[in-house]
Amino acid sequence: MQNLFVTGKITPAMEEQLSTAFSLQFAYDLDDPASWLQTHGESFKYVLTSGHEGIKPEFMDALPNLELISNYSVGYDSINIPLIKEKGILVTHTPNVLNAETSTTALLLLLACYRDFNFNEAHARSGRWEQGKAPLSRSADNRTIGILGLGRIGQAIADKLTPFNTRILYHGRSKKDVPYEYFPKLIDMAQEADAMICITTGGPETKHLVNREVMEALGPEGVLVNVSRGSVVDESAMIDCLENGKLGWAGLDVFENEPVIPKRLRDLKNTVLTPHIGSATQETRTAMGNLAVENLLQHLREGTVLTPIPE
Ligand code: DGY
Repeated sequence: MQNLFVTGKITPAMEEQLSTAFSLQFAYDLDDPASWLQTHGESFKYVLTSGHEGIKPEFMDALPNLELISNYSVGYDSINIPLIKEKGILVTHTPNVLNAETSTTALLLLLACYRDFNFNEAHARSGRWEQGKAPLSRSADNRTIGILGLGRIGQAIADKLTPFNTRILYHGRSKKDVPYEYFPKLIDMAQEADAMICITTGGPETKHLVNREVMEALGPEGVLVNVSRGSVVDESAMIDCLENGKLGWAGLDVFENEPVIPKRLRDLKNTVLTPHIGSATQETRTAMGNLAVENLLQHLREGTVLTPIPE
């Protein structure tokens, strides 16, 4: 049996499927995985990881025979791609199967910001509401919404916004054949939009793409939603903008230093925060797990994979 190094938690179903073909070694069963790999790493051609964990540089150094990294997420920014390419290692990920869920999470955060969901839920839960205590919230209908990154999930978000009579703008590397308005410059889109939803890829290329200037262009009535990666938004500038009324609201599923969320951000009433649950439903995590497992099994059987990361 081939050895498979697993960097984090996987579902029991994944473990059962993988155990039929691989001898599994979980990083969390080891006191010091990096030094264990120094001794045993040569025997591993396969690694299973996720966007939350990635592969630490010291793990990479200790895996000279690595052939395939199966990533149990769509985002692979936690893997050092230039190094992987240099070494000729194949990386797979789990696209498409999480489009519906992550787009629902974006909508959930957007609607919660517009309709002051947090305040109103707590108000009702207090046991007795006072008529007129809650300030009137704002409608989510008839808005102009900018999508940063119109990939598969971005398109699913646009589809879900259609019944809200939304004017949809988008920014990305190139114009697409879609019925939405393209903005080559992010700042111009932010100026035009009522709300902006970030669903672009993470990594060095997009780090702090949403900077202070962009957030100030969204403005005091603007809503910022991030379901991509925390690194895409300059978090400290965002906190300043939210505190000083330069940006209206933020709905955030991702943060710069997950799983830690700064106290200043947690203290802000004009935010809705969720713990990176974009794809976290039973159905979607099952589908992602099946795909991550099938990439490994197919490579073992036939030397090919189903969903390699883009070139
Ligand atoms: C992904 O798949 O990249 C999501 O962020 C869930 O981890």
